[in-house]
Amino acid sequence: MLFPEQKTLTEPFRIKMTEALRITNPEQRAEALKNASFNTFLLHSTDVFIDLLTDSGTGAMSDQQWAAMLTADESYAGARSWLRLEAQVKNLTGMPYILPTHQGRAAERILYGILGGKNKIFLSNTHFDTTRANIEFTGAQAIDLMPELDDPAYLISEFKGDMDTQKLREQINLHKKENIAAVILTVTNNSSGGQPVSMANAKEVAAICRENGILLVMDACRIAENSYFIKHREKEYENLTYLEIAQQMMSLADAAIMSSKKDGLVNMGGFLALSDAALAERASSLLIISEGFTSYGGLTGRDMDALAVGLTEVFDADYLEYRILSVGYLGRKLKELGIPVIWPTGGHAVYIDAAKMYPHIPIDQYPGQTLACEAYLLGGIRCAEVGSVMFGKKDVHGKLIPATRELVRLAIPRRVYTQSHIDYVAEVFGHLMEKRNSTNGYRITWEPSFLRHFTAKFEPITSVAETEELRGMEIPLY
Ligand code: F0G
Repeated sequence: MLFPEQKTLTEPFRIKMTEALRITNPEQRAEALKNASFNTFLLHSTDVFIDLLTDSGTGAMSDQQWAAMLTADESYAGARSWLRLEAQVKNLTGMPYILPTHQGRAAERILYGILGGKNKIFLSNTHFDTTRANIEFTGAQAIDLMPELDDPAYLISEFKGDMDTQKLREQINLHKKENIAAVILTVTNNSSGGQPVSMANAKEVAAICRENGILLVMDACRIAENSYFIKHREKEYENLTYLEIAQQMMSLADAAIMSSKKDGLVNMGGFLALSDAALAERASSLLIISEGFTSYGGLTGRDMDALAVGLTEVFDADYLEYRILSVGYLGRKLKELGIPVIWPTGGHAVYIDAAKMYPHIPIDQYPGQTLACEAYLLGGIRCAEVGSVMFGKKDVHGKLIPATRELVRLAIPRRVYTQSHIDYVAEVFGHLMEKRNSTNGYRITWEPSFLRHFTAKFEPITSVAETEELRGMEIPLY
């Protein structure tokens, strides 16, 4: 803020290069969505006006990052760019073994490929979908340990990303210790609303892991955003810098995975950081056969230099404050329109509870998918369902076992959209709220066996027989 009474949120950067956005009409969007089988992942970006599908790899780089790319070193081994990145990551994680990877899931595949396997169990506050998929692919089990959503303590908690430490102890007592491959703390907790994890919780989780000799992995994609919440909500950290808070959190873990496409402020990149030499040796072998040599992983010299600069810029106080406050601004606007958002908002996205917005749409007609389609049809806004399409399972009879929540994520790319774009998004969702009573669900017509949300095909439920009963319902306001 430039002065204490300032109310207007201002971006702490100005724009040096522009990218045109196409203004489509409703007929063009209806056609595009139909061609995409009503799956927003299958839309072409040229048909999208505001793209809130993900904050991953969609940010704008700074002039300093672009400048660093020009002086990058593309040597195969021991490049200057690698040494710069390695030093940055060591400074952040405090860990001695750093392996560059092309993105987060490559680091996950390597680490969980080593630790996983049949009978193995991973425990996390919430496994992100690629984390879960990489674990389950090895034959291991991934168990989420979130607090109960209706627990009064949870409802008023300012750290809704925390792991339930009582459940963690119960799980540890329930299984053979040698079968617990790792505990993964995801900061911020993406799948449960981008909500922050407190330092107090991270410390408790680390202590339990130490007590039981269990490896603690930090999934640190959004650790800078998480540090903002700690500084502003946990009194004892208010005088530390954002970087110092992140360093403290990292120091609790034995390993860290980072998809740098988030808080690395780059379009591609990731790393695996390890404290244990033997584990690092095994991981390096897998890195070499699948990603690349240990001094570049899947990255070019340019990528590594851009990331080294990004890891500094992301901890800049002006940047982080603008980032968190602007996401909160959208959340507040939607809330004022009566839209059921997860409150308070988290770091990188606003999550709407689509089951509450469309209580007349049965879960197996996917209220979240419905809202994602509606946002595109009305406003050209692309967002993602984080509910039973993404996390639902099937029982032996093929019946849906729903996810715990039916959310829609409006993920905000870093340094990309302006305040007026955000105001436009709120306006579109305001209209969707007004016509929610006459909105119908979708059914899946085809799905793959793994990570179905990326490629599943849908069709709208439109027949009178299917909808007349639903239309008559009185829909309560949230
Ligand atoms: N862990 C978390 C918490 C994530 O949010 C992601 C990616 C990954 C791991 C995997 O990283 O994409 O670089 O391979 N999340 C993106 C998202 C895809 O949209 O939230 P990746």
